[in-house]
Amino acid sequence: MGNINASVDLRRDGEIAIVTVDNPPVNALKHEVRAGLTEALRQTAEDAAVKGVVIACAGRTFFAGADITEFGKPPQAPGLGEVIAAIEAMSKPVVAALHGTALGGGFELALACHFRVAVPSARVGLPEVKLGLLPGAGGTQRLPRLIGPEKALKMIVTGDPIEAREALADGVIDEIVEGDLAAGAIAFARRVVAEGRPLRLVRDREDKLVAEGFADAAETLTRRLRGRDAPAACVEAVRNAITLPFEEGLKREGELFRKLVTGDQSKAQRHIFFAEREAARVPGIPEGTKPRPITSGAVIGAGTMGGGIAMCFANAGIPVTIVETGRDLLQRGLDRVAANYRATVSRGGLGADEMERRMALISGVTEFDAVGSADLVIEAVFEEMDLKKRVFADLDRVAKADAVLATNTSTLDVNEIARATSRPQDVLGMHFFSPANVMRLLEIVRGAATAPDALATAVALGRRISKVPVTVGVCYGFVGNRMLARRSVEAERLLLEGALPQEVDAAVTGFGFPMGPFAMADMAGLDVGWRIRKGRGERNAIEDALCEAGHFGQKTGKGYFRYDSGSRTPVPDPEVERIIIDASTRLNRPRRSIAQEEIVERMIFPMINEGARILEEGIATRPGDIDVIWVYGYGWPVWRGGPMYYADQLGLAHIRDRLSFYAESSGDDTLRPAALIRRLAAEGSGFA
Ligand SMILES: NC(=O)c1ccc[n+]([C@@H]2O[C@H](COP(=O)([O-])OP(=O)(O)OC[C@H]3O[C@@H](n4cnc5c(N)ncnc54)[C@H](O)[C@@H]3O)[C@@H](O)[C@H]2O)c1
Repeated sequence: MGNINASVDLRRDGEIAIVTVDNPPVNALKHEVRAGLTEALRQTAEDAAVKGVVIACAGRTFFAGADITEFGKPPQAPGLGEVIAAIEAMSKPVVAALHGTALGGGFELALACHFRVAVPSARVGLPEVKLGLLPGAGGTQRLPRLIGPEKALKMIVTGDPIEAREALADGVIDEIVEGDLAAGAIAFARRVVAEGRPLRLVRDREDKLVAEGFADAAETLTRRLRGRDAPAACVEAVRNAITLPFEEGLKREGELFRKLVTGDQSKAQRHIFFAEREAARVPGIPEGTKPRPITSGAVIGAGTMGGGIAMCFANAGIPVTIVETGRDLLQRGLDRVAANYRATVSRGGLGADEMERRMALISGVTEFDAVGSADLVIEAVFEEMDLKKRVFADLDRVAKADAVLATNTSTLDVNEIARATSRPQDVLGMHFFSPANVMRLLEIVRGAATAPDALATAVALGRRISKVPVTVGVCYGFVGNRMLARRSVEAERLLLEGALPQEVDAAVTGFGFPMGPFAMADMAGLDVGWRIRKGRGERNAIEDALCEAGHFGQKTGKGYFRYDSGSRTPVPDPEVERIIIDASTRLNRPRRSIAQEEIVERMIFPMINEGARILEEGIATRPGDIDVIWVYGYGWPVWRGGPMYYADQLGLAHIRDRLSFYAESSGDDTLRPAALIRRLAAEGSGFA
């Protein structure tokens, strides 16, 4: 008894042994933990005085999964499978005591125990699919036996965890412990011993293994995931649970896991996982810099973005004040927020009481001075420099000392905005993406004068409100939109050369984006850009012609595509084809048929080129930051790992040669490969 090793402790409470694992921060099942667990189980099995065992974790959570830094390294025994086998070989009841998030291998370990108890706030899940994997320690075989194949597949394919209450209702856990978990788990184990309850392992249960309905459920769950290896493997593994004996199913699961873990898709997804964590480390913030405390926020402007940003605060339990110029505008903004929440409630994604609680955290005012009490202010007024400068001058006057002052601008110079105040060290950009309450990406724009602790505050707040913050420098469009602009130029050029919107969009969705550039333009609306161009005396051959013909996008039922009333499904439109062909003729551009491969290259490579320039200029810190921006802000397929990662997979010499070719054939010098690409390609290396 006592310490087994640095991570595992074994003690006794009467006839119950308690194995406690402490491997901060999330009790990942690293080698030392697995070895300690095996040893603790061996000792308790041999100890005649022990009648039952509780496995629990210290700190904030039960095992949140495998130690993914061990992926791709030679396995070190005992593996998780051996720990699980040791649990199942126990002739004394083993109770898993769950709190926090029992995820992946942690949940699989719990599934091998005879019983599971949990605190009400605990969540359990198998998120492996999010790393392009499947649960590889029996999860695909045990969970279907516990709750039936359909429900199990849903958890495994979505990777989304379930709450303790749902887990109890489904029979995943046996009891919810109110109050002290360890004490409750020990009491539970004692009851099991006293009552002499039979020790039935999940692997031996067969009653829930019905095949009926499984094929349909699998089809529905994976319909939108075609071309992805992991979901297909999950389906196969769960189907095996129905059709094969347990041991064979387990063996097949192992084979599928090994295939996935060495495959390109999972490697790309693991790259994004690590890049996201890395992005939180911002160079130039000295070690030990403390973020400023944030207990309340303010948002200026109750428009599309302001309302969504306020919801982010409320969702995280932070009180927020929205400031508008007039009562009506304010009310309209608050109504939109309420309607947004109501939609989530009616979809079952939020309780009505929780909606009330969140709405109560949002207050609206028309008096600007109300921002004086906020620790952090986010400005989301119209995109006009003079207006923003006025707002920041006002903020300078009323905001409290040390408040962080952020702008949500998409294009304006954050340094110029900062200079409108006497405290540029407190000013930065917090660039949310629309819809702000949904999109995970948050570009944090560091100004020339931004203080490290102001920056650290914005990053910390970003994480607190469940965003993925990536710090970038000041330039037009920052990282994401600056790269996107390259794609837009090329998309129009493709239309003029012979492609149609449906062909371009099909190539882009075929690559894995959820939406093509033209369907996206229709959703955003074509008229805004058209009016801006008119004001500046600029022209866009196709889009202006479309707008002149009343094609404003989804809002008018026609844009680059046609939309049947009430539908958002883009339908190819012969009138658009005519407008495009006219534009080609007007500009003397011969039309030709363009292969999908060429479209894909021209949609992707110019963005990679711009990404390289962004790295050269130091606007982004690392290629991985750019990848994270594209995955979380623009729907880049995560299993392709982001544009810079993708470029490395293809090889930069190839990217260089293709860019040179397109620069020659189009006469557009911006397509010439960036110096960084040329240098790295010559060295035979990549961005990462
Ligand atoms: N819409 C997007 O997709 C998107 C995405 C990222 C960033 N942005 C940026 O966010 C900002 C807001 O964009 P939006 O789409 O929400 O615009 P919007 O027109 O929907 O909302 C702007 C709101 O600001 C209010 N406002 C104007 N002056 C004000 C003042 N002095 N005080 C208080 N409120 C004032 C307006 O009444 C309006 O309700 C812009 O800088 C935009 O570039 C927009």
